[in-house]
This record gives sequence, structure tokens and C-alpha cells, in this order.
Amino acid sequence: MTKIMFVCLGNICRSPMAEFILKDMVKKAGISEQFQIESAGTYYAGRPIHPPAKAKLAEHGIISGDRFSRQLKKSDYDRFDLIIGMDNMNLVTMSHIFEGDPESKLHLLLDYTERPGNVDDPWYTGDFDTAWIDIEEGCRGLLKALTDGGKH
Ligand code: 4NP
Repeated sequence: MTKIMFVCLGNICRSPMAEFILKDMVKKAGISEQFQIESAGTYYAGRPIHPPAKAKLAEHGIISGDRFSRQLKKSDYDRFDLIIGMDNMNLVTMSHIFEGDPESKLHLLLDYTERPGNVDDPWYTGDFDTAWIDIEEGCRGLLKALTDGGKH
């Protein structure tokens, strides 16, 4: 069982998209039972997925249901094997919340692609097409790394 936590700022756009995209990928590969996949935000909590993010998932046949954002907390460090942020700001805040990263669990999603960098925040850019492209590619690379026994 590999336990994966995706993290962004608000947990209403990028990290829930990553959560539901990866859940869909492992389901289609018939390996859902090998994974625990969740998401959280470094910012405040208790909000539903932002409608354009939900719509982008639905456009690709992924139903995200009724889900409310939740905030990352220190105890999450021990509950997950990989804790994957969307941008460098997330990474800095994650290190702060966890008071470091002694087991090297913290990563950026696009580090699992050929073009490492940030998943720009569609809350600010309004560009949910780019968010989808980046997050889908990141999740595909992550799953490949995990199932090939490669980098993770
Ligand atoms: P996310 O986007 O980090 O991809 O979920 C955001 C959503 C909400 C806010 C910021 C970013 N906000 O400030 O409310």
C-alpha cells in the first residue's frame, strides 16, 4: 500500500484535481487497492471543490462528488509515504508545518515529468486547461515511477 497526499494552497483546485485524477488512473489500471490517495491544503479549510475544477474533472469523465477542503496538519507526515505539493510555495509551507522533512517524503508533482516546475494556480490564472494538462502529466509520471519501481 502506497499512501499519497497531494497538497496545494486552498485544496479546492489543484490538489483535489490530482487526487481524483490519480484515483481514476489507478482504478482504470485495476490497482486501486494498492493505494491510499488524499489531498489537503496549507490554507483554510471547509470549502467545496471550486466549480471550474469540478467541471474540468467532469469533462474528462471524473466525478468528484461532495468533498470539502481540509487543512494539512503535522500528523499527516507519518500517515503518508509521499506528500506532493503543486508549487514551491506549497513546499516551503509543508516543510514549515512538518518542521522539516527527515524522511524525504516531500516532492513537487511536476518533478515526475520531463519539465519540473510549478503547477500554476488556476485560482489566480483562471486557466483550468493548463492545470489539467500539468496535473494529468504529473500523475501519469508519478504512477509510472511507482509502478516501475523507479524514482519516487
Ligand atoms: P488551490 O487554489 O491551491 O489550487 O486550491 C486556491 C484556491 C483558493 C485560494 C487560493 C488558491 N484562496 O485564496 O481562497
